[in-house]
Amino acid sequence: MKDVNFDEYEVGYNIPAKPGMDEADIQTPCLIVDMDQLERNLDKMQADADAMGVRLRVHGKMHKSADIAKMQIERGACGICCQKVSEAEAFAREGIRDILVSNQVRDPAKIDRLARLPKLGARAIVCVDDIANVADLSEAAERHGTEIECLVEIDCGAGRCGVTETADVVEIAKAIDAAPGLKFSGIQAYQGAMQHLDEYEERKKKIDIAVAMVKDAVEALKAEGLECDIIGGGGTGSYYFEGESGVYNELQCGSYAFMDADYGRILDENGVPISESQFGSSLFLLTSVMSHAKPDKAVVDAGLKAQSVDSGLPKVHGIEGVEYVKCSDEHGVIADPEGKLAINQKIRLIPGHCDPTCNVHDWYVLVRGGKVEDVIPVTARGLAY
Ligand SMILES: Cc1ncc(COP(=O)(O)O)c(C=O)c1O
Repeated sequence: MKDVNFDEYEVGYNIPAKPGMDEADIQTPCLIVDMDQLERNLDKMQADADAMGVRLRVHGKMHKSADIAKMQIERGACGICCQKVSEAEAFAREGIRDILVSNQVRDPAKIDRLARLPKLGARAIVCVDDIANVADLSEAAERHGTEIECLVEIDCGAGRCGVTETADVVEIAKAIDAAPGLKFSGIQAYQGAMQHLDEYEERKKKIDIAVAMVKDAVEALKAEGLECDIIGGGGTGSYYFEGESGVYNELQCGSYAFMDADYGRILDENGVPISESQFGSSLFLLTSVMSHAKPDKAVVDAGLKAQSVDSGLPKVHGIEGVEYVKCSDEHGVIADPEGKLAINQKIRLIPGHCDPTCNVHDWYVLVRGGKVEDVIPVTARGLAY
C-alpha cells in the first residue's frame, strides 16, 4: 500500500481513521472497505477471466485507487481502464504500466497529455470514433516521440460514443494503421446500457447483438490485414457473456470489486441476486446516528455530500426492519419503526452507486476483524479532466 505519513493527518479533521484503531472509533461519514470481502471479489473475477481464457483489464474509474489497482494486477489483471486523461496520469504516476483511456480524447491539451503518458512509464491506449481525431493523436505522439495505441470504438447498444457501421470501423482502423506515432490495437465495445437490466435473459439478448456487431467488424478488419490485439468490453453485469463469446479477449469490469445497491438488484441465470451468488458488498459508507428525536426516525450524518444517489438510495447493511428513506445535503433519514437504532450507533450503508460515491471521498479505511488495517488515498479523487 502507498506510504502515507499519518503524522501529517489528524483523525476527525482530515482523515477518518489511522491504522490500528478499533473500527468503533472511525470518524464518520467515511468509506470503509471490508478487506476479506474485497479479496474474495478480486479472486473470483480473476479466476473467472482465467477460466474463460480472456484478459481482465479492470476499470479504475470505479475505485480510483492505485493501491486497489495494484491488488488487481498482482492477481493477474493485465492493466487498467480509466475514463479521463487526468485519471490515467494519476495511476501512471503511482506505477500502473498499462492504461486504456476507454473514452474519446479530442481537446488538444488533453491529447498532448495523453501523448506524454508513455513518458510516465505507461502504455497509452485510447478509443477513437472519428477519423478526424486520428491526425491530432498522430501529431501529438510524433511531437513527443511516443506511441499511442488506438482502439476503434463501436457503439454496440449503449447509445454513447462509438460508430455503428463496420465500414466506418474499417476506415478509421486503416487511418490509424497508416498514421505515424499511432498503432492500431483493436476494438472497444462496451455495452453499458444493459449492465443493470435485472433479468439475466434480457441482458443476454442485448449482448448477443453486441457480439454479432463486434464479430462482423473483427472479420472485416482481418480481411484488410488488420489484427486486433484487444477486443475489449464487458462489465460486472455481463462479463460472462463477453468472456465466453469467442470474440472478446479483454474484460473491463469495475464494480465487482466493491458492488453497490444498484448491482445488488440484478439477477443471475437462476434468478438469484448477483450480490448473493457472485460478488458481495465490500464497500460501505459508514455513518452515525446523530438524532432520534422522532421515535420512528433516525437521522444519520451521511447525506448527499457523502454519496451519489443517482441510481437510488443506499441500503442499510445487516439490520432488518430499517430503511434509508431520505437524503439531504448533510443528513440521511432512516425509517426505524421499531426504534432499533441508538444515538452514535454506527451503521454500514451499501452505496446506491459506487463510482460517483468513491469520487467524493479522500480516503478508504480498510478494515478487517474489527480493526483498521490501513487507510489509503482515493488516488484519482475528483480527477475528471
Ligand atoms: C467503458 C466501460 N467499461 C467498463 C465499465 C465497467 O463496468 P462495471 O462497473 O459495471 O463493471 C464501465 C462502467 O461504466 C465503462 O464505462
